[in-house]
Amino acid sequence: MSIGPQGASALCDSPAQHEPRAPQPWHRRKWLPGRHIAPALESKRPVLHRRAAVLYGTVQVWLAVMIAPLQVAYLADHERFIPTLAYWHYAEWSYLRPGESLEKRTARLRSCCGHQQIPTVFVALRDGALLGSAMLVAHDMDTRMQWTPWLASVFVAPDHRREGIGAALVRHAVEVARSMSVRRLYLYTPSTKAFYSRLGWSPLERTSYLGVDVDVMLYDIEAEPDAAPDDSPGTPPGNSGGLRRGRHR
Ligand SMILES: CC(C)(COP(=O)(O)OP(=O)(O)OC[C@H]1O[C@@H](n2cnc3c(N)ncnc32)[C@H](O)[C@@H]1OP(=O)(O)O)[C@@H](O)C(=O)NCCC(=O)NCCS
Repeated sequence: MSIGPQGASALCDSPAQHEPRAPQPWHRRKWLPGRHIAPALESKRPVLHRRAAVLYGTVQVWLAVMIAPLQVAYLADHERFIPTLAYWHYAEWSYLRPGESLEKRTARLRSCCGHQQIPTVFVALRDGALLGSAMLVAHDMDTRMQWTPWLASVFVAPDHRREGIGAALVRHAVEVARSMSVRRLYLYTPSTKAFYSRLGWSPLERTSYLGVDVDVMLYDIEAEPDAAPDDSPGTPPGNSGGLRRGRHR
């Protein structure tokens, strides 16, 4: 088909030809590789916006929890956590004290709260949330009353394990014991000998206790050089504590 001069000028001079073209939506542009899926995405835009907002919120909460500094404090200064902590301990170790109810354990934990004394309870906190605990107690094994004091109830919330919290709690408890002139600290554990070995504890013996095979371990504070508590901001100075008797796991 050929177009004559008139026909050609008629085509070129049509008013539509001179009007500025409306800009193409970005996803219609031919050079864009994803233009075929873009219309589908366009229709899902509200859903995507909602999901992005949820993701953004989640990331912000996660960052707040992860970046906020870890604090190790006395439970005595955060008594509102006693019921939660008692429940955690009960769920983890009730098999070692079959006759003890949750209520009794809660009362026992409350009675151990104190500052710079033995017994005492430390809590790990981040951004106001309870993450773990450790205790210093006079006795933890009825069969080893000649040894005192003991580290006990080292516990980290399952969702926050392997973040260094357990290590921070143990180091903090050792430093507080050192500040009270404790020379040797003991503990027993059914299953976490390796965890304590990494932190400088030595195995003393393997024995059976309450029907469970346990490792008894020692931390020789006297043999260690003085160390400032690095990740233990709650450590109080001085030596004003006394020992009270009682088994505490
Ligand atoms: C045991 C427990 C306190 C460890 O706490 P955590 O916060 O996960 O430990 P951390 O992140 O501070 O770990 C410190 C080091 O010990 C190692 N570790 C942690 N848990 C361990 C375990 N169960 N066995 C062997 N090593 C362990 C870590 O890999 C880490 O090693 P690294 O320094 O070379 O990286 C925690 O798993 C827990 O609460 N368990 C249940 C209660 C319990 O068994 N308490 C022990 C007292 S009986």
